Amino acid sequence: MPERPAWWQRQVIYQIYPRSFLDTSGDGIGDLEGIRVKADYLEWLGIGAVWLSPIYPSPDADLGYDISDYLTVDPRFGTLEDFDALLAALHERGIKLILDLVPNHTSDQHPWFVESRSGPESPKHGWYVWRESGPGGSPPNNWESYFGSPAWSYVEPPGTWYLHSFDRGQPDLNWENPEVRRAMQDVMRFWLDRGVDGFRVDVLWLLSKDPELRDNPVNPEWNDGLPPWLRLLRQNSEDGPRAHEYARLLRSVIDEFPDRVMVGEVVLPPARAVSFHGERLEEVHLPHNFALTELATWRADEIRTVVREYERLLPPGAWPNWLLGDHDFPRIASRVGPDRTRLALMLLLTLRGTPTWYYGDELGLANAHFQLSTMTVIDPQASTSPERDRLVARTPMQWSPGPHAGFSRVEPWLPLASDDPAFTVERQRESPDSVLNFVRALIHLRRRTDALSIGTYRSLPAPPDVFSFERGHPDGAVQVHLNFGDREQEIGVPLESRMLLSTAGAKAMDAPDTPRVVMQPWEGMIISMG
Ligand code: GLC
Repeated sequence: MPERPAWWQRQVIYQIYPRSFLDTSGDGIGDLEGIRVKADYLEWLGIGAVWLSPIYPSPDADLGYDISDYLTVDPRFGTLEDFDALLAALHERGIKLILDLVPNHTSDQHPWFVESRSGPESPKHGWYVWRESGPGGSPPNNWESYFGSPAWSYVEPPGTWYLHSFDRGQPDLNWENPEVRRAMQDVMRFWLDRGVDGFRVDVLWLLSKDPELRDNPVNPEWNDGLPPWLRLLRQNSEDGPRAHEYARLLRSVIDEFPDRVMVGEVVLPPARAVSFHGERLEEVHLPHNFALTELATWRADEIRTVVREYERLLPPGAWPNWLLGDHDFPRIASRVGPDRTRLALMLLLTLRGTPTWYYGDELGLANAHFQLSTMTVIDPQASTSPERDRLVARTPMQWSPGPHAGFSRVEPWLPLASDDPAFTVERQRESPDSVLNFVRALIHLRRRTDALSIGTYRSLPAPPDVFSFERGHPDGAVQVHLNFGDREQEIGVPLESRMLLSTAGAKAMDAPDTPRVVMQPWEGMIISMG
């Protein structure tokens, strides 16, 4: 870890789902130009980096995560020139740009796969995972895709099966093949040369599989009450013997360029997820930490335990990171409910480690509700598990009251999450007590307060429903108190302290003149220690 904290340690990373940020071309789908014209908004909000979900051409089997060309921009999002203009606009404002890299699979329309499927003589045949049928013409093994159907599809000719960990339109690349590894390194160099500041690597822990492709064992804890995708343990189909070697390989390309970052999607239990930092921190700078997406109760003691456990597991010198969700999860406001949304957002922005923010959470946007039968675009995960439709959290950003919330002049590709003008940037900017102004104040407080951005973490004693901790720094420590209970709580604070920010708004900001402060239900506060 560098002596001086790197930019990706201090800053908030803001995730944008490009088709839902702003449509300037009038096709109902967001585009790169739409993000560029909102660069001032991003600067105003105070975020330090943008992570863009895939912007590459895609037949949309998995809405962008099935890529048919890694080296250009999907025409619906714009051109490479639009990309350069967006990058320049962000850089002018001191904002970094992180792209999604999807190295585990391509689209089945990618020329590599089209060539590969033409038969075993094709030079690209070994770029994908092809196998003969199992006994009686069954698939080669029992693996299931993450979308809940068999992980193999049959192609005739050549009369063999190909592996797809996700949709059948997303064939897995064969990472055992050195040509594949080199091709992906070249993809990275193409964008790094163009000036991008790093990558979020999609399903990094899947690149390596059991080389013998053995069956996955049945989960002994599975029963009819559990969802079908938990029936097998994914012991052989993920996190294989070369997983860390491949992480190092990708990182080595990042390190060919100064000051870049590698974020990795690693959905594994915390002990295995943090191992992707590498023993000598030579793998992923920020393997995404999904612990807060898995909370069962949102009670103070549960959260305290999760934070303690994660901090304990981190390899020495590794920098933590946190997120509340991303484009694959229901919105945080729907998971915790409106009363606790600000508290959850304050938790994310005050824990030690880089926060990854999901666009729209700054408005307190909730999940959309729509009827699958009326949809023109379908999430492949929803085809097998309608209750896990990820589109509910991918709806258009809401900019202003009026048609389509200012997102587009035409009907957007997805309905809005809310028709209430109160859930727009324009309205919330005008309202001092809005979620947006609260989040902005917190992000800016974090930026100017070293204790909050790069300080140490220490849990503090607190009443049962309250999670309290200190962020320490030689220039001044702060205390954070988060009341996850539905009752008032009294907490002790040092007499010299100053209230910096409360979820309860300006009225709660009077300087404490006694060593005790009464916290409202679900209130969070940040206190300066002088
Ligand atoms: C990652 C993405 C998810 C996608 C999957 C397959 O988990 O976050 O949206 O469906 O990879 O690429």
